[in-house]
Amino acid sequence: MLILEYPRVRPRRLRKIKVIRDLVAEARISIKDLIMPIFVTEGIQKPQEIRSMPGIYRYDLNSLIRFISNSLNYGIKAFLLFGIPRSKDDIGSETLRRDSVTYKAISTIKREFGEEVIIFADLCLCGYTSHAHCGLVRTAKRGSREYMVIDNDETLRIYGKIAVNYAEAGADFIAPSGMMDGMVLAIRNALDTAGFTDVGIMSYSVKYASNFYGPFREALNSAPRFGDRKSYQMDPRNAKEALKEILLDIVEGADILMVKPALAYLDIIRLVKDFVPYYPLAAYSVSGEYAMIKAASMKGWIDEKRVVLELVHSIKRAGADLIITYYAVDIAKWINEGYDPF
Ligand code: PBG
Repeated sequence: MLILEYPRVRPRRLRKIKVIRDLVAEARISIKDLIMPIFVTEGIQKPQEIRSMPGIYRYDLNSLIRFISNSLNYGIKAFLLFGIPRSKDDIGSETLRRDSVTYKAISTIKREFGEEVIIFADLCLCGYTSHAHCGLVRTAKRGSREYMVIDNDETLRIYGKIAVNYAEAGADFIAPSGMMDGMVLAIRNALDTAGFTDVGIMSYSVKYASNFYGPFREALNSAPRFGDRKSYQMDPRNAKEALKEILLDIVEGADILMVKPALAYLDIIRLVKDFVPYYPLAAYSVSGEYAMIKAASMKGWIDEKRVVLELVHSIKRAGADLIITYYAVDIAKWINEGYDPF
């Protein structure tokens, strides 16, 4: 038997100095991997900071254009757009209008920046409906019992129309986040029928009923007024079910797949990437993740830049190709400044 009196293989040799560590590093972040979520609304004179997301704002159209142009200077070119309408109703009719803030934002951004930027238009009803559910709500009866249900297939019809509306405004990708069954197929059909065969779909394929969405719901005022989203978003206890959702989205015609949230679901990102290595996979590091890091760093308890860079690399290492993060512009700035904590 060979007895090693001292280690011949020494992993530490590859960790000795930064230049070597950089040479052999497995996961790398590029500014080109990052997508910045943006919020646009009407009826405000200047950007409004979101209370539970310090540093993130609701923009009016003019300040949004300035924000995008500033982000472009740092190399951020992909944006996930959320419109916040002035008025909400039962069916979210504002989403279908050509004078809606979302439509105007998409078309203005595209007029200003053309092919320099990519717009992913988030498609959902929760920000537009008075009940704040992601689908249409209807009362159902079973015997003498009456209860509220989310009408999946009726919702699909509206999703198709919204997709065409956003495509017409100039969206490059439609990003349906409502977790309705068949949403990708309904949107693909509607887009193709309207002639928008070149508009892509980034589907929120694997979206969990997570408690990390709190700050986002404050931003959109979209916390459900009754019940919860557990009948359409995934149960956090499930992993294998993610593959079922992924398969469906592929069959239905999605171009980019997504797992959301990111940090508590790194195992799911890895699982999905290994399952379909040939599809671009996005991971959405959500508002609650941003808020946690921000809060701890504002208390002086963690080093924000180091923690953020560690976390985005962990998301990348888990298998994500694209990362949607509220830190996108900050990260790009830090990288441009040559900041490198590794
Ligand atoms: C729903 C939607 C949600 C987010 C984006 N679109 C979650 C929800 O309210 O259920 C969350 C994003 C975040 O927390 O950053 N259509």
